[in-house]
Amino acid sequence: MNLSLSQLPQVMDLVAVLLLSLGIKGLSKVRSARAANGLAALAMALAVVGLLIQSHPTTTTWLWIAVGLALGGLAGVVTAMKVPMTAMPETVALFNGCGGLASLMVALGVALFQGAESGGVERVSIAISLFVGAITFSGSIVAMAKLQGWLETPAWTQSSLRHAVNLALALLCLGAALLLWSEPAGPALWLEVVAASLLGIGVTLPIGGADMPVVISLLNSYSGVAAAAAGFVVGSQLLIVAGAMVGAAGLILTQVMCTAMNRSLTSVLFGGALGGATTSVGGGGSEAGYTRITSCSPEECAMALEQAERVVFVPGYGLAVAQAQHSLRELAKLLEAHGVEVSYAIHPVAGRMPGHMNVLLAEADVPYEQLIEMETINPEFPRTDVVIVLGANDVVNPQAKNDPTSPLYGMPVLEVDQARQIFVVKRSLGAGYAGIANALFELPQTAMVFGDAKAVLNGLLSELRGMGVGKEKALV
Ligand code: TAP
Repeated sequence: MNLSLSQLPQVMDLVAVLLLSLGIKGLSKVRSARAANGLAALAMALAVVGLLIQSHPTTTTWLWIAVGLALGGLAGVVTAMKVPMTAMPETVALFNGCGGLASLMVALGVALFQGAESGGVERVSIAISLFVGAITFSGSIVAMAKLQGWLETPAWTQSSLRHAVNLALALLCLGAALLLWSEPAGPALWLEVVAASLLGIGVTLPIGGADMPVVISLLNSYSGVAAAAAGFVVGSQLLIVAGAMVGAAGLILTQVMCTAMNRSLTSVLFGGALGGATTSVGGGGSEAGYTRITSCSPEECAMALEQAERVVFVPGYGLAVAQAQHSLRELAKLLEAHGVEVSYAIHPVAGRMPGHMNVLLAEADVPYEQLIEMETINPEFPRTDVVIVLGANDVVNPQAKNDPTSPLYGMPVLEVDQARQIFVVKRSLGAGYAGIANALFELPQTAMVFGDAKAVLNGLLSELRGMGVGKEKALV
């Protein structure tokens, strides 16, 4: 087979597609995820170089490209270094928005400057890319602002009138898209961009509380669809393949998260804010008038641990905030040396992003086999001596099972209330992400250990060491 130099960009595009597919496959395992990420980045770099070779840029264009690369690269590096793990959902929302904006710009550029020469496929792709790109951009910015706590769910967005407004905007987009068919660079272009941007805001603004993770993952899927459509606009195989993969993966993740929260996608998108009309996301909330709270010191908790045969740790968002994963691992090692069977119960939406707890605990080298998923660990709680809930709240709230009036009702939770003894480690009686009270705190077998998760875990470690726990193995 003879390959000429002019075919080099196509070959590079193909190699990039293969590398990207391998990279995405590697992301499914914690061990290979880091290398897989590098592979996917290499694929993207290869595709960009291929495109540059193909398009023979002028010196001025090279300058623009270099400035864009430097600025974008710098913004990426600074964000990656500065953003804490707990703010990852906001960052993902922002990146989704950037993806949507990029696809929108590509489609706009082609429509404005080459629209007259474009064929049928390009015109349809331009309309789709503008529509999905604009929704993704504005929706993601709203989602990010809500996650950051900059934006609350306004009460008026809960009225059913919003559906009529959103429908009118969607029809306007459809009308504009039809007009684009005959005149791709006409005023309909701007009408579609504005109407779709408003639709993105109109759909995302009413969604609140615990539903936001589902929305982020759906917007991630939209950004893939927008990129795939932009791929058709500029004729890039890589963009089509990568966009389709992101679109499909985002949709699967959305479905998985809906199942985990026992919510249908339609109820998320059209049902309004979970947790009350004006619930802001991000947690906080009042101390909810608890009357039967028992609290205890780390010393009492350590005594229970010393007696236990089987202990389950339930990590949650607060563990990530406290960065207490290494102290937790140390405590687990100490207990294991004492002969205690230790495992970690992982709720699919614990923390603030999919897989948050897996990543957090992997950082501290917790053996992967000890991370037990909700369906597997729930039947094990009745034979568990001690459960330690570490900065988790909503994911262990029994009202999700027992109280049909609770906003969390129907969301599968970790059934820690079935265990013999429960210790809840958190700083106060404040609410979690959904902003509601937790009946677990008032159960007779529950004791609160108030404090920062890291400080409490370090306290437990020194108490247990003081009792000689963990030294047995060394003596044998
Ligand atoms: P939450 O329900 O948010 O509860 C976290 C608890 O951690 C809070 O009650 C807080 O209580 C405590 N906390 C905060 N800082 C702490 C510290 N330094 N030390 C000890 N405790 C601390 O967390 P969860 O149980 O993990 O549930 C996750 C929630 O987030 C769900 O509602 C889920 O739907 C939502 N969500 C999930 C995702 C994904 S994809 N995972 C994304 C966005 C939202 P104090 O203030 O009293 O300490």
